[in-house]
Amino acid sequence: MATEAVLEAGAIQKERYEQEFEIRKKGVIDLVTQVDRSCEDAILRRLRSAFPHHDIVTEESQLEQTGSRYVWFVDPLDGTTNFAHGYPFFCTSVALTVDGVAVAGAVYDPLKDELFTAERGAGAHLNGRRLGVSSESDLLQSLLVTGFPYDLRDDLQAKLRLFNRFMGHARAIRRDGAAALDLCYVAAGRVDGFWEERLQSWDMMAGVVMVEEAGGLITRFDGSPVGLSADQIVAAGPALHSAMLQVLHPEREALVS
Ligand code: IPD
Ligand code: CA
Ligand code: CA
Repeated sequence: MATEAVLEAGAIQKERYEQEFEIRKKGVIDLVTQVDRSCEDAILRRLRSAFPHHDIVTEESQLEQTGSRYVWFVDPLDGTTNFAHGYPFFCTSVALTVDGVAVAGAVYDPLKDELFTAERGAGAHLNGRRLGVSSESDLLQSLLVTGFPYDLRDDLQAKLRLFNRFMGHARAIRRDGAAALDLCYVAAGRVDGFWEERLQSWDMMAGVVMVEEAGGLITRFDGSPVGLSADQIVAAGPALHSAMLQVLHPEREALVS
């Protein structure tokens, strides 16, 4: 079901990409487009008709929660800023959690026609091909990706301190603008590691099961579990993950600087 939902949303995005559509501001720089809403409507229709008793948490609507053990997390369009500017990096992310644990996820990049899927215990796949995280252990040889929350200006110096620290330790850093896809790229070994603060559960739940099923680790900056709403996440293969934790731990800074 997650797969069908992301494919339907992806078809809407592909059709509307670089066309005229309404764009509104949710905050100073945070956007929402008509396309976010159309994708959300399509996904909700599918999930509600297949699973009328499950709860759904989705970015663009506040839905009533009944306390079901089964909760879907939906980001109808991850990378809205990219989509609105015609920058070709965005996706849809749908995940199912049971008792607070991500058990399945699907993320679809419609422009590349890349469908990432993961199921707890059954692996992570890209268009049917099994995925594995990179085995890189040396930060200096690593390609990292990160992102910034829309309110980064409230805490700009802290964000830049962290970014600067990684700049000093990695081969290169990318900021691609769609966290769900960033996490899939970790799962696929296309990037070696990812960190970000203040992601929402809909940005990351599909990515969590994707990275874990690809053999990676995904935790908060102190190594503790991410749960359903982490204020911080760091994801990588096991060896690089511990190197990234060292960079992220202020008290361990002396070890790596
Ligand atoms: C955003 C993207 C971005 C991340 C932001 C998210 P949206 O989601 O995933 O990469 O840095 O924190 O809010 O608004 O495009 O769905
Ligand atoms: Ca998002
Ligand atoms: Ca979104």
